[in-house]
Order: sequence, then structure tokens, then C-alpha cells
Amino acid sequence: SLQAVIFDLDGVIADTAVVHRAAWEQLAHDIGAPFDEHIAERMKGVDRRGSLEILLERAPHAYSEREKRVLEDRKNSYYVAQIECFGPDQLLRGARSAVESVRDAGLRTGLASASRNAPLLLDRLGIAELFDYVVDASRITHSKPHPEIFLAAATGLGVAPETCLGVEDAAAGVDSILAAGMRAVGVGDATVLARAEDILVGIEAFDIQRYISGQPNDRE
Ligand code: G6P
Ligand code: MG
Repeated sequence: SLQAVIFDLDGVIADTAVVHRAAWEQLAHDIGAPFDEHIAERMKGVDRRGSLEILLERAPHAYSEREKRVLEDRKNSYYVAQIECFGPDQLLRGARSAVESVRDAGLRTGLASASRNAPLLLDRLGIAELFDYVVDASRITHSKPHPEIFLAAATGLGVAPETCLGVEDAAAGVDSILAAGMRAVGVGDATVLARAEDILVGIEAFDIQRYISGQPNDRE
């Protein structure tokens, strides 16, 4: 039976998917690399270096390891400049009550964000205390869609992966959850997140009772 729900942060709890995207788009512009919807979607949920590699696939020239670090730092400075003025208003609508509903149902709550800015963000949003366990992204070696981060969350919560439900807005995230042997709920675009057992338009629509009572939904 269900023991825990593990949430992604950017684009599920916090209104930051757009901020990451804007920072990458600015960097793409800086270096004369193309940027479009497809690239933005592929980057979602993927860690900083993985995202940079996606951007550089179509960059005008190759970059050394040292240059890549400079580019990553620049993207991060664009991102952090926005996050610094964040507060509880940047929680996505319904996010706090979604996490609280899991706790109220007697289940454990975890956070599996690839972002090294997650601790800063949780602090700014004022929701750090809602999670029983937060994965330290700096200790994860394989980016989503690898299952490592969701497995680390389950281990930290002290529960078996099969008893967990993961919630994600990125295709790479849904794949990570499924590869970990967990049930997956997608938040956002149904075509992108098609492999999830259930897809919500927003975290506001999250109803924990559906997953407690139910077998995985049969979607047609
Ligand atoms: C999350 C976001 C990604 C971001 C990654 C790394 O997974 O969805 O867009 O690239 O975190 O974030 P960071 O803050 O460490 O650069
Ligand atoms: Mg996300």
C-alpha cells in the first residue's frame, strides 16, 4: 500500500520552471546557440550540466570543461538573481495544501529535486518543514531520467520504492520515477507526460485519496 509521496520541486511546487527556462534562453542568446520549445522541454528536470550539454548540442563551436563551468555559473547567476526575491507567493497554487494533505493522510513526504538551489528555494517559499526528507542534489551522480534521485528519496524516507508515488512536471522526471519502480503522477502537458498513470493540469488538482484507495487508473 501507499506509504509516501515524493514531489519534484521546480514546476510542481514552485513556479520556477519558467525561471530556469528564461535563464537558459538568456545563456543561449549570449553564446549564439538556438533555443526553442523542444530544447526547453528536453531540459526540464535535467540537472545543470545535463541541461548545458543539451544547449551545446547546437552551439556554434565546442567548449572546454573550464568554459562549460563558466557557462553553468553564468546561467546560475541569472537564475539566482530571480530566486533571491522569491517568497511564499511563488508557490504554485495548491502546492502547500497538496503536501499537507499527504501528511494529514498519515503518509510520508519527500522532495526529489535535481536543483542545487532547492534548499534556498524551500527556505524562501517557507515550506522546508513540510518534507520528511529532502534529497541533497549535490550527492546525486546520475541526472533524471536515471532513477537514483527517487531511490535516494525512498531510502531517506525509510520506505520501499514500490510503496511510493512520485509527482513530476518533466518527462525525464516521470521516467526517473517509473525506473525507480514507483507510481507516477504527471503535472502539466498530457502528451509530454503520457507515461504517468495520471496527469493533472496543476498541483491544485492533486487528490491523495485517489491514490490511496485506488489501483493505478486505467486511462484510455
Ligand atoms: C531542476 C529543474 C531543471 C534544472 C535543475 C538543476 O531539475 O527542473 O530545469 O536544470 O533542477 O538546477 P540547478 O538549480 O542546480 O541549476
Ligand atoms: Mg520539475
